[in-house]
Amino acid sequence: MTDPRYGRLIGASLGPGDPGLITRRAWAALESDARWLYPVKKSGGGRGDSYALAIVERSGLPIPDDAEALVFPMSRDAQVLARAWATAAARTLDVLASGRDAVFLVEGDASTFATFGHLARAVRALNPAIEVETIAGVSSFAAAAATTGVPLAEEDETLAVIPAAYGVAVIDHLLDDFDTLVLLKVKPLIDEVLDLLARRDLLATSCLIEKVGTPEERIIRDVASLAGTTLPYLSLMLVRNPKRARGELRRGCRKRLAPAGAPDEASTITATQEAAA
Ligand SMILES: C[S@@+](CC[C@H](N)C(=O)[O-])C[C@H]1O[C@@H](n2cnc3c(N)ncnc32)[C@H](O)[C@@H]1O
Repeated sequence: MTDPRYGRLIGASLGPGDPGLITRRAWAALESDARWLYPVKKSGGGRGDSYALAIVERSGLPIPDDAEALVFPMSRDAQVLARAWATAAARTLDVLASGRDAVFLVEGDASTFATFGHLARAVRALNPAIEVETIAGVSSFAAAAATTGVPLAEEDETLAVIPAAYGVAVIDHLLDDFDTLVLLKVKPLIDEVLDLLARRDLLATSCLIEKVGTPEERIIRDVASLAGTTLPYLSLMLVRNPKRARGELRRGCRKRLAPAGAPDEASTITATQEAAA
């Protein structure tokens, strides 16, 4: 049961950088009466410290005077993190208790490796009656694929999206099962990843994208040139593995070429199966 005395908590996905990728629904949430909350990494950090807020600033939408920063430190210290999360959740609940909606600004997509899910859970742990809306958005890797022209997956290809921190042994193993790997948070492991790609002869089919959609966007197709360099945190790698050995697919899943004018076999099978169901 939701409590009508409290406002709703809205997670507005803003896309990864280009304000043109803010959806109409997120835009409407920003233009509503909802109080804006935006993430920063350090307390005392001004508006310039928020990547999410910068996306909206580039859109030309005025930033409300009462937009408020919530601090989410980049720390591994459990106590520091617990304190910051408790403060952010309590502050969000204060806003909602005034009866006003709160819109939390999210870089990329709010359901993909995003702070919003944790924040929503922490707020609902304080008050389970809080209504939460998550507005879907464009992820960094969807935008990177579009910008570079590298397909994420076609036909019956397989796709995996992982934080590179799992390490090269895991990445090596996944390359046997996936036609495309998206490596997020690749910065700390870049040299190890490059060595692996060289061993598997995949340097030529890999691409690195920094800060996609922003004025600082950089696309590096000659990924070997990145060896020994320092990348920004907002970098990802798209790895295509054209040599992957494929297994058999179940009948009806693989699209077959039909003669011109003939009904497409895959859709015929699906339609027949649906009719029989
Ligand atoms: C915590 S995850 C956030 C993912 C985000 N919610 C999304 O939908 O893409 C952060 C990682 O996503 C990737 N990333 C996010 N935004 C990016 C951008 N604008 N350009 C390149 N990579 C980005 C980087 O790999 C970064 O280390």
